[in-house]
Amino acid sequence: MNAPQPISSSRNLGILISGRGSNFVAIADNISAGRLHARISIVISNRSDAPGIEAARQRGLNVVVIPSKGRTREDHDREVVSALKEARADVVVLAGYMRLLSPWFIQQFPHRILNIHPSLLPSFPGLDAQKQAFDYGVKVSGCTVHFVDEHLDHGAIVVQRTVPVLPDDDDHSLADRILQQEHQAYSEAIRIVLDGNYEIIGRRVVAKTH
Ligand code: GAR
Repeated sequence: MNAPQPISSSRNLGILISGRGSNFVAIADNISAGRLHARISIVISNRSDAPGIEAARQRGLNVVVIPSKGRTREDHDREVVSALKEARADVVVLAGYMRLLSPWFIQQFPHRILNIHPSLLPSFPGLDAQKQAFDYGVKVSGCTVHFVDEHLDHGAIVVQRTVPVLPDDDDHSLADRILQQEHQAYSEAIRIVLDGNYEIIGRRVVAKTH
């Protein structure tokens, strides 16, 4: 059994993006609307052309581009971790961050790094999860928010939401409906982790009832 360390009262999120950033925007909107009690202390993109950067700037957030191209994973991760620590991030939120973290990075934030994946893990890890699920012919897919461990799309699951595959779906329409669920599931999972009201038993993240 593994009880989480208490999170500081600042409830700071460090958000990592690589692209569109719609999950980041949904989290930011939930915070602005008072549905999620947290603060985004930094947004980091590993790509200078990520559309999510502009969305973060428009919100007046602290945005940093730390390009990963041409650098070793360890070298890049050290700069990212140092920016996260400087911004006093309590929880690291991978929001479409298309880069594996080194074991060293993960050790810097034990049980404090979350990822979202557009399938019901452990089915369809990796790239193009929605298309993988659609092509396989599943009747139900969905999304998963999980703690990050040293394996791809693998850590203990915090929240999952299901999405039915409809007869006239294609992989794009399925991905659109999964994304709508992602936008709710991520804030729900962040709330659970910030509140610390859970235990990790084996691989199971179990809500405390008292
Ligand atoms: C989301 O669908 C997210 O689940 C997926 O990338 C998309 C990012 O969209 N992540 C992965 O596949 C990670 N394995 P966004 O940039 O609009 O949030």
